[in-house]
Amino acid sequence: MAYKINEELIEKIKDTVNIVDLVSRYVNLKPAGSNYVGLCPFHQEKTPSFTVSESKNLFHCFGCGEGGDLISFVMKIENLSFIESIKLLADMYNIPIESYDNSYSQETKKEKERLYEINREAALFYIYNLRRNPKALKYLKERNIGQDTMIKFGLGYASNSWNELYDYLKNKGYEDGDIEKVGLISKRKDNTGYYDKFRNRIMFPIVDNKNRIIGFGGRILDVGKPKYLNSPDTIIFEKGKNLYGINLVHKMPNREKIILVEGYMDVISLFAYGINYSVASLGTAFTQDQAKLLKRYSKNIYICYDSDNAGIKATLKALDILEREDVEPKVIILPKDFDPDDFIKEKGLDEFKKLEENALSSIDYRIYILKKKYNLNKVEEKIRFTKEAAKLLRALKSPIEKDVYIDKISKETNIAREAIGKEVFGNSYKPNTTIYKDKYISGKNRHNKSEISPVKAVLEPAHLKAEKNLLKLMIQNIDYYKRIKNHLSREDFLNYECKILVNIIYDEYENNPYLKELDINLILGKLKNEENIDYEIIDEITNIHIVAEDIYKFIEDSINTVKYFKLKFERKIVANKIKELDLKKQKNKGDVEELKRLCLKLTELDKELKTHL
Ligand code: UTP
Ligand code: MN
Repeated sequence: MAYKINEELIEKIKDTVNIVDLVSRYVNLKPAGSNYVGLCPFHQEKTPSFTVSESKNLFHCFGCGEGGDLISFVMKIENLSFIESIKLLADMYNIPIESYDNSYSQETKKEKERLYEINREAALFYIYNLRRNPKALKYLKERNIGQDTMIKFGLGYASNSWNELYDYLKNKGYEDGDIEKVGLISKRKDNTGYYDKFRNRIMFPIVDNKNRIIGFGGRILDVGKPKYLNSPDTIIFEKGKNLYGINLVHKMPNREKIILVEGYMDVISLFAYGINYSVASLGTAFTQDQAKLLKRYSKNIYICYDSDNAGIKATLKALDILEREDVEPKVIILPKDFDPDDFIKEKGLDEFKKLEENALSSIDYRIYILKKKYNLNKVEEKIRFTKEAAKLLRALKSPIEKDVYIDKISKETNIAREAIGKEVFGNSYKPNTTIYKDKYISGKNRHNKSEISPVKAVLEPAHLKAEKNLLKLMIQNIDYYKRIKNHLSREDFLNYECKILVNIIYDEYENNPYLKELDINLILGKLKNEENIDYEIIDEITNIHIVAEDIYKFIEDSINTVKYFKLKFERKIVANKIKELDLKKQKNKGDVEELKRLCLKLTELDKELKTHL
């Protein structure tokens, strides 16, 4: 084969091909923590020790030691030479190999290198400029940006001059054509030369994950339009494929989560306050390519846009885009009229962390936004809301999730579960149970609830609800207790308050076998010795009123829900342990054994979980 492989093509392949996708064509992979595992294709094994890291674009087998990147994977599994593997990969992923003709590419490569160099020179010039411009320094100081942050982000200043940068770069020997191509200068209308495009602006260099300056954003110092000016798209800068801040996320050893924000200043402020995992799209709407890029870095993506109408619209759109990449994004909701920059400056890191903890899942957010549109005290609007919400629920994959949300919407609107279920599942829907909680249905409580707070909009977790129902039933009747105790031990209850209650209930029945039911006041009395109890939960349990067509079926369902969530909880712990071990640089034999054991356990848990769906 006469192909001379050029670096650009190799880079293109590494950027385009997702290793998990590639390996999945040969190996059955399952998610395990932040990685994927499967049976190694390079040696015989019964338990999976073959690991693929999506974020690092690498594979490794802890059994036989084989490992490498996607090209070595193809070489090995297809038994091909390096060049043949490149060709095959280009074929598989529709990368036009012809356009990487060697002579052409050598030239482009050189050209690109010149452009990166010009950007670097310009950035240094802007940094130098900032140091001697008191007005620009004062502006940054007023925005709470300290020295460290300025250095970290390479912030600079473009003077209010038409030719300072141009003269500087010319002096350094760069050509007009190149400086124009990278978007720093423009031709004058009368063709008498060039002028600087960025003037009187704070300059934010945009750095890619290979640490090259690909463009700039510039914020006007005083008022003026546009507020932000960005470099145009060039051969080294495609706005829709890059993210501001990705260079810093790239350097983080474990990319547990990433927050997507709207602006340069949001990334910078969050960083200054210790949140070093946010990125912003670059003056354009969030794109599918950016979602692909993000997904390579982390599975946990949070969106934190402004809370105004434009922000909501952009959030809903970003959710769609991310969901198309199979990530399950969450939304951090800011109070009205705040962006992340304002918020963290005014309220501090802890308050921001609280918002992060209370981030809504995609479906919760969509319902929350929908609810804001309607006045649920009006019948017609309530119906419209419910129909719209049912449409959202239809898109959910898991029937359990659907069911749980049907219940939530039913409580919210006071419309029967069955009716909503039919909207979601179709007319054949039959609810197994009907549960009414008097506390939320009547009285003034309901009206308070129409005051929408994002936290309250989140549904009560299904397992908590099941635990509470089971406790209530056990208090009511020893037969229910006996049935439940046969399937669930004290440890199976996850909620703190429920755990305490279950201990009291089990103890009471065990010590007093003649009791037919328990006295609620006696139980409340015993709770007095316990610390840190959330009495709202206890109160809710006392107020539950269960009406079920078939109470034993209801009990069975609730037991299964508790078991399901216990398994999920266990799975999370095992997955976390795998992740932790996997991050360890030097693994001893014990670690490898432990990893194998954990992977096996994970597979077992997944199997068991499947039977619950
Ligand atoms: P915003 O208008 O929300 O500004 O733009 P901001 O981030 O709060 O900026 P400050 O706090 O006033 O400095 C958000 C992002 O949209 C892009 C920029 O990327 C900006 O960071 N944008 C905005 C532009 O590209 N051009 C503009 O004229 C305005
Ligand atoms: Mn702002």
